[in-house]
Amino acid sequence: MLAQFNFPTTILFGTEALGVFGGRVAERHGNGPMLLVTDEGLVRAGIADRVRRVLEAAGVKVELFAEVHPNPVEADVVAGARRYRDTGCTGIVGLGGGSPLDAAKVVAVLATHEGSLLDFDAMRGGDARITSALAPVYAIPTTAGTGSEVGRSAVVIAEATKRKTIVFHPTLMPRIAVLAPELTVGLPPHLTAATGFDALTHAVEAYLSVGYHPMADAIALGAIELVVAHLPTAVADGADLEARGHMLVAATMGATAFQKGLGVVHSLAHPLSTRYGTHHGLANALLLPGALAWQLAHERASFTDDLLARYRRIARILDPGASADDLPRLLADFRRRVGITETLAETGATHDDVPALADEAYDDPCHRENPITLSRDDLAAIYRSLLDATG
Ligand SMILES: [Fe+2]
Repeated sequence: MLAQFNFPTTILFGTEALGVFGGRVAERHGNGPMLLVTDEGLVRAGIADRVRRVLEAAGVKVELFAEVHPNPVEADVVAGARRYRDTGCTGIVGLGGGSPLDAAKVVAVLATHEGSLLDFDAMRGGDARITSALAPVYAIPTTAGTGSEVGRSAVVIAEATKRKTIVFHPTLMPRIAVLAPELTVGLPPHLTAATGFDALTHAVEAYLSVGYHPMADAIALGAIELVVAHLPTAVADGADLEARGHMLVAATMGATAFQKGLGVVHSLAHPLSTRYGTHHGLANALLLPGALAWQLAHERASFTDDLLARYRRIARILDPGASADDLPRLLADFRRRVGITETLAETGATHDDVPALADEAYDDPCHRENPITLSRDDLAAIYRSLLDATG
């Protein structure tokens, strides 16, 4: 038996974190330049400029690359890698939600390796092609959800397949993550809720996933406690820096925990983003309670005592008197409490789409770590059950 535990990223947390960051980068890279990978929204909001000033105040030159789309596509990272090489950059700062942070990581690969995105597809053994040293990546999240700032994978949609392609390598992990709560105060309530549900789903799926990882389990439970305690406040009062800070830490913890594994909810969620452009966190929120309910209803015989105990332990964070069977309802109640009231049908998904959605979800690797083994037909049945649900 062999287990491997990894927790290496330096995490700077708090309202002084961004100020300290410039000096840390200067120590390692001299005057750069650093490629600042972000999106247009963060340029418009003045946040990209804020980060640029912090770096320049420490003597670090900055090359701005703000061409990352939501759900980044291959053209984004190809252009970023070209800019990195053309301008002689020595490192990358990813700034934004999961999209710019993931794009920053893939730019780091393409900037230092020959080949196209699909050459590095982790599902086709592409991680073995990441051989030379990567451009160092630093990450500044502006949403509290994906936890990409401590993750070793990145997702970009490939041009040829139109599917989300996972690039994975231990050296993709950012050197420093800056958790600055003041950068997240402008996030609107619905996006705060959706990204928060991504963090919650990471923690729930990691805690339930197969494998022996008590450290990840403990971090996952801690993340769930933080989300349950602070997401409603972050949604209701976006300027509450304490709630915002706790949510940033919860997101980082959720992603730290999911090195253990994820589960079927993420496999079901990914096709909704590629096909309908559904926000990843929202997709998880729409699926998480129903996917757990379906498994309890249809796969009960496959549940071990340990798995039922895990369901119960999560349920009791939401309601101290709850049983394992209460978990889906409690998660649905919590979803409503943070203002997410959409149904799966509102993403644009229809019963006619289910076979193709199920094919794509089944090809996605996340469900292989789900505690209950599910077939392609099972995944189709979960989609159908949610399309039939009324909210
Ligand atoms: Fe996620």
